[in-house]
Amino acid sequence: MPLKIPSVIGHRGACGYAPENTIESVRTAHELGAQWVELDVKLTKDGVPIIFHDDDLDRTTNGAGPVMLATLEDIRQLEAGSWYGDSFAGISVPTLEEMVEVLLELDLGLNLEIKPCPTREIETAEIALDVLSRIWDDHDRLLISSFSHVSLETARDIANDWHRGLLIDGELPENWRELCDYLECATVNMGREYATRQAVEDIMDHQKQVLVYTVNDPMEARRLQGFGVDGFFTDLPDVIAENLLKRH
Ligand code: G3P
Ligand code: MG
Repeated sequence: MPLKIPSVIGHRGACGYAPENTIESVRTAHELGAQWVELDVKLTKDGVPIIFHDDDLDRTTNGAGPVMLATLEDIRQLEAGSWYGDSFAGISVPTLEEMVEVLLELDLGLNLEIKPCPTREIETAEIALDVLSRIWDDHDRLLISSFSHVSLETARDIANDWHRGLLIDGELPENWRELCDYLECATVNMGREYATRQAVEDIMDHQKQVLVYTVNDPMEARRLQGFGVDGFFTDLPDVIAENLLKRH
């Protein structure tokens, strides 16, 4: 069954309005009408999947240093909202499991981006998908993506029937079709700067859906929609939804 992705996917929740990858950000995305959210997952030192973007703690918490050197107990001590705004002071970094409970409560679809810390490409996919498989059963509202081909290969091997997305950093590489076929991906997720009409048409010709990150400008979303782009990752899900042409 083809994956039914909405045209608007809240990026890291709704990170234009709340601190990224937090439960508050996901609740905000839902309040703004998003049906799906994109979230990044990586492992703590002791192998617990958490929702977090950077390899280091510094930018989005009051901690410092590499995530892969912090245990879950260390992560629990951190505060992940003040950097964004005083009104978010005191909020925490969620585990994948805690986050999924909220997604289920809100009936949100998920694009889980596997974002391994260096050298942890296989185990991040293995552990995150193992945790997810115990609590998530709606495969049509789930997309597993990664820039890491090793993580995607692991996902293909252990959760073959879950849809996968090939994340592209930069221009489409020459071998993108081979990568897509080998990793059995349903979507190609590319950066907005590189989503030319030609690239979008090539991906569509290859029978893959095209998702573009991170689109916050409504005019750009309309232009890309005209090329045939299926969906947009956006920090501002309400703004982009209001300005897209409705699909029938
Ligand atoms: O999955 C789309 C987008 O999130 C990829 O880039 O750095 O925001 O995780 P990044
Ligand atoms: Mg991401």
